[in-house]
Amino acid sequence: MEQLVTFHDYKPETLSFHDAVVEGLSHERKHISPKFFYDERGSKLFDKICEQPEYYPPSVERRMLLRLADEIASLTGTGRILIEPGVGSAAKIRLLLDALQPAAFVPMDISFDYLKSVATGLAREYPWLPVHATCVDFTHSLPIPQQTPSGPRLLFFPGSSLGNLHHDEAGKFLEMVRETVANDGMLLIGVDTKKNEKLLNAAYNDAAGVTAEFNLNLLHRMRHELGMDCNPTMFKHRAFYNSKIGRIEMHLVSKQDQDIRFNGHRFNLEKGESLHTENSYKYTPEEFLAMASHSGFKSIRHWLDDDKLFAIYLLEARG
Ligand code: AVI
Repeated sequence: MEQLVTFHDYKPETLSFHDAVVEGLSHERKHISPKFFYDERGSKLFDKICEQPEYYPPSVERRMLLRLADEIASLTGTGRILIEPGVGSAAKIRLLLDALQPAAFVPMDISFDYLKSVATGLAREYPWLPVHATCVDFTHSLPIPQQTPSGPRLLFFPGSSLGNLHHDEAGKFLEMVRETVANDGMLLIGVDTKKNEKLLNAAYNDAAGVTAEFNLNLLHRMRHELGMDCNPTMFKHRAFYNSKIGRIEMHLVSKQDQDIRFNGHRFNLEKGESLHTENSYKYTPEEFLAMASHSGFKSIRHWLDDDKLFAIYLLEARG
C-alpha cells in the first residue's frame, strides 16, 4: 500500500529563544519558559525522565491507556481525525491507534528533526494510517494541514502537559482546543492529580539525576545556540512542590554570585538566586472539570488509577 506521510513546517520562531532569554533574565524574578527545554537533546532527556522509577505519570498513564483503549474507542467511535500536540516520541498514541482506527493522524511538535523521525517511524509501523506531521509551537496555534481529510476530530493531550501552563493559559489552551476540534469534536487528556508531597518531590528529583540534567540543558542551549557565557556547572537543579499554589516548581539556582554578559546585556545573579524554569500544576478532578467546562467542554467520562495518582478525561465539545 502507498504510505501517506506529509510534513508541514510552520517554522516556530527560534529567534524567540533569544528574546525569551533576554526578557526572562532582565526580570526581577528571573524565568524562562519550559517550552525551551525541548531541543533534540532536551527531548531525548525527557524520554529518559519518563523511564525513571520516581517519575510515575508515564507508567501509570500507560497502564491506564492500555486497560482503557477499547472502552475509550467505544465512546469516541473509530475513524476520527486524531491530533496530538507535543507528540514527542509518540509512545502513548501507539497504545490507542489499533483501537481508535483513526482516519488520519496529525502529530505536532516544535522540534522538526525529531518530529520527522518519529512520523516516519509511525508511518512504517502503521501502513494504513495517513500521517500529517506538523511542526508548530502548539501553545500559540493548532493548524490542521489542508491535506487532512474532513471528519470528526479527537485531540489527544496526554502526559499532564497542560500542567506546564498557568491556570489562565491552560484555560485559554483548552478554548483553542475546543475551537480546533469543532462541534462534534472530543478531547482525551491525561492530567496529574494532587497527592502526597513526598511522591511529587521525588518525581522531579530522580536519583539518577536525569531531571537535573534536563533542567540544566537550558543553560547548555543558551551557551551553544546563543553563544552566552553562562556556565552550567555554576548552577544546580532545584524542584519542589509548592502546596499553596498546587504546583511543582523547577529552578536553576546560582551556586555563587555571577555576572552573565550577553549581547550588551549584563545579568547579575546572586548566590542562591534562581532562574525559574518550569511549573507543573496538579489538579483534583473537580478543579480540572470546572476549568474544562469553562472552556467549552462537557465531560463524557473520567478515570483514575487505583492509587489516584493520575487522571484521564474524555470530554466533548459543548455545542
Ligand atoms: C512535560 N511535562 C508534563 C513534564 C511535567 O511533569 O511537568 C515535564 C517534566 N519536567 C520535569 N520532569 C518532567
